[in-house]
This record gives sequence, C-alpha cells and structure tokens, in this order.
Amino acid sequence: MLDFKVRPVKVEDAVFINEMRRMDGVRENILGICSERATRSEDFIRGLSENDHVFVAEVEENGLRKVVGMISMTVNRNMRVRHSAGIGIMVHAGYQGKGIGTALFNQVIDLADNWLMLARLELSVFVDNDRAVKLYQALGFQIEGTKKYAAVRNGKYEDEYMMARYHIS
Ligand SMILES: CC(C)(COP(=O)(O)OP(=O)(O)OC[C@H]1O[C@@H](n2cnc3c(N)ncnc32)[C@H](O)[C@@H]1OP(=O)(O)O)[C@@H](O)C(=O)NCCC(=O)NCCS
Repeated sequence: MLDFKVRPVKVEDAVFINEMRRMDGVRENILGICSERATRSEDFIRGLSENDHVFVAEVEENGLRKVVGMISMTVNRNMRVRHSAGIGIMVHAGYQGKGIGTALFNQVIDLADNWLMLARLELSVFVDNDRAVKLYQALGFQIEGTKKYAAVRNGKYEDEYMMARYHIS
C-alpha cells in the first residue's frame, strides 16, 4: 500500500501542481493546457480565499517529498447558494488507482458534511471518464444532467455530466 499524507496546499507545491496539470493522463480530463506555466499554479495558490479549501497528497521518495494529487473545494459566495460548493480533483498519472483520489475526497467530504454543513457538492466530468464517474458514484454523487458540447478535447467538443452529492440533515 502506498504511504501518503493529505495536507493543505502550500505555495511551494506550485511546481508539482503545474507538472500534474500538464501531464498525459491528467491534462485531457481536467481542462489543462500543455503551455501552462508554474506561475499560473503559484498565482492560483496565492489567490485562494477563505471560500477555497485545497488539499494535496504528498509522498516521500528517496528522502524527497513530492505532491502527487490535489483536490479543491470552492464554497459559493452568494448568500443564497452558500450551502453548495464545486469540486475539482487530479492525481498524478503514475499514482492513480492507489487510493489517493478516495482519500482526498474523504477529506473534503468530512469538511463539507461536518464542519461547513454544506448541503450540496457539485462537479463536472467528461461522460467517458469512467474511472472518475465510478469513484464519484461510490462517494454518493449522482448524475444530474449532461452538458452538451461542454469542453474542447483533442479537436472535438465533448459532453460532460453534471454530478452532485446531497447532505441534508
Ligand atoms: C479520477 C481520479 C481523480 C481518481 O483518483 P485515483 O487516486 O486514481 O482513485 P482511487 O485509487 O482512490 O480509486 C477510486 C476508484 O476509482 C476506480 N479506479 C481506480 N483505478 C482504476 C483503474 N485502474 N481502472 C478502473 N477503475 C479504477 C475504482 O472504482 C476505485 O475504487 P475501488 O478500487 O475502491 O473500487 C484520477 O484517476 C485522476 O486524477 N484522473 C485524471 C484526472 C481526472 O480525471 N480528474 C477528474 C476530472 S472530473
């Protein structure tokens, strides 16, 4: 079993986040683009507000620490939709299928359900991203609808599912 730790993001993680966003096996599914610079990730981290909750998964290899996964949850700011938040996730192509995605999700779901009392978590996913859709369904997300021609991928407009998970107590 892979040993990794989940912790809040730091500015120094930007270079790893940039590498993940650009790599094959991640970029095509997260709306990344191959020319993205590390400064974009640095600006993203520095620009996070109190509505943004971002965690990374860190592994240690040969004495070096490396970030191999990230999840972000952004709580909507408008007072009447503050009970809902949007989620984005990615795991390094070389570390997928090892439980990192599940662990990152469990961290934000606990925060959402028990500490922020959010009623609704939302995300979008390409309709053919079976691994991700299965993971989200296992975590209680449902498909709410399909966005036709939602995003460009490799020369085509592709459809996305809108998925959501409800927590009403
Ligand atoms: C989707 C993603 C976040 C999942 O993270 P992960 O760390 O690979 O997921 P986990 O190892 O926790 O596995 C979770 C579930 O995914 C599915 N899964 C994992 N590896 C799989 C594989 N090789 N083949 C098929 N399904 C797989 C399984 O349902 C698994 O649950 P189970 O094995 O307990 O039944 C990750 O694969 C990823 O970043 N992919 C590229 C970017 C992306 O698609 N992001 C999401 C955009 S909406």
